[in-house]
Amino acid sequence: YVIGIDLGTSAVKILLVSKAGTVTHTISKAYPLIQHQSGFSEQEPSEWVTQTINALAELVQTFPEESKLIEGISFSGQMHGLVLLDEHRQVLRPAILWNDTRTTAQCKRIQEIIGKEELLSITKNPILEGFTLPKLLWVRDHEPDVFRKAATFLLPKDYLRYALTGTLQCEYSDAGGTSLLDIEKQTWSQHILSKLELDPTLCPPLVTSHEVVGCLTASVAKSTGLSDSIKVMAGGADNACGAIGAGILTPKDTLVSIGTSGVVLAYEQDKQAEANGKVHFFHHAKPEAFYKMGVTLSAGYSLSWFKDTFATEEDIGTLIEEAGLRPAGAKGLLFSPYLSGERTPHADAAIRASFIGMSSTHTRADFTRAVLEGITFSLKDSVELFREEGIAIDRIVSIGGGARSEVWLQMQADIFNCTIVKLTSEQGPGMGAAMLAAYGLNWFDSLEDCAAEFLQEQEVYNPDPVQVQQYDSIYKIYRSVYQHTKEMNQ
Ligand code: XUL
Repeated sequence: YVIGIDLGTSAVKILLVSKAGTVTHTISKAYPLIQHQSGFSEQEPSEWVTQTINALAELVQTFPEESKLIEGISFSGQMHGLVLLDEHRQVLRPAILWNDTRTTAQCKRIQEIIGKEELLSITKNPILEGFTLPKLLWVRDHEPDVFRKAATFLLPKDYLRYALTGTLQCEYSDAGGTSLLDIEKQTWSQHILSKLELDPTLCPPLVTSHEVVGCLTASVAKSTGLSDSIKVMAGGADNACGAIGAGILTPKDTLVSIGTSGVVLAYEQDKQAEANGKVHFFHHAKPEAFYKMGVTLSAGYSLSWFKDTFATEEDIGTLIEEAGLRPAGAKGLLFSPYLSGERTPHADAAIRASFIGMSSTHTRADFTRAVLEGITFSLKDSVELFREEGIAIDRIVSIGGGARSEVWLQMQADIFNCTIVKLTSEQGPGMGAAMLAAYGLNWFDSLEDCAAEFLQEQEVYNPDPVQVQQYDSIYKIYRSVYQHTKEMNQ
């Protein structure tokens, strides 16, 4: 067996996966988001560790025999978050997460000092509020006493791995999301570090995703009941792992993943491929491969926000079922999901969400439907950007919460106007982490061989021409909502 640990934004999910690729067991343990003000989003790294150890201990108790046969563990994690450690490797402040958009002033300064073109050519991305570098500068600007004590920064799953193994590294797929990595040279950019007067020793050593980086510490082994000889592999960013877990391993493969965020991701083999900054460009967790990606900041989050605010007593599944019975277009009700700003295509931290077209005859089900459609329209913006770049998107593998419901899968097919594929497991990132462990253990010669063994298609959803046409007209209106609501939030 191998274990894939996905350190998400709402919960940590643990997958026990057999040598044949069967997900034998999953355990999920939640932790809260800390949102002191609009645009702020933090979490306590100690909660990630506690909940992971609790989940691993529960796994061992539930499956004592299988647990003795576990050979490897690897990770997938929410990207970009800043964890700061002092010289004794103690956490200095709560982690500032990927969906925190407080750093507009720092982004502006970085762009002035380095230059837009230079940033794009070194990191292959523009500077955005969610990325790690502006967060580092925010702490230096606003909490100088904390910053003075900082000896190293880590990304979320790299901190979790450090807590479990005592070894400290970053790997390429997550490093790309810091704005500090020279993507083509595969090193931390000394140029960016020195221009911004940042000490290069803040950056942890870089490794590849399937590399064995150590074993569990004696104390973690004791508290979980796992053996301290199990090998631990570095792992990857959640979207890179999601891509592996969905079999996105060759050019032309595309993925939609709806978790707290939503992404549209296209495989890229060539590190010199054009990066125009409209979509992100990061290292894959497959060696020597890359991907391009558009991001909706509040995808699944819009739905859980809606439920927590207006339907606390219901579970999400019931809400979606209810919405599935309403007609496409939610009878004129339209939602834009910009609850905490938006990345693709607007790169605007200040924009906020909206419901438009409410009538006294709308029910809760229409509202839920409008939320599902709004999230999917926002992802269509990214699908269309890829199509404009000449990437023919006629088949997408869908994973995450969006792939758990037939209603939403069919909606994706109709709104994106392409075939949507659902795999037997929609747990892409956790599965990708497990596959990195399997590959790192040399169970397979390549990740492609591992995918052939581990991944199977379950269902295919084809677009319905009538709905496609209907959604096309609504999408035109959706596209104009951004411009019309922008001024309200500046
Ligand atoms: C990607 C991004 C999010 C997080 C979610 O750039 O910020 O998808 O990785 O965990």
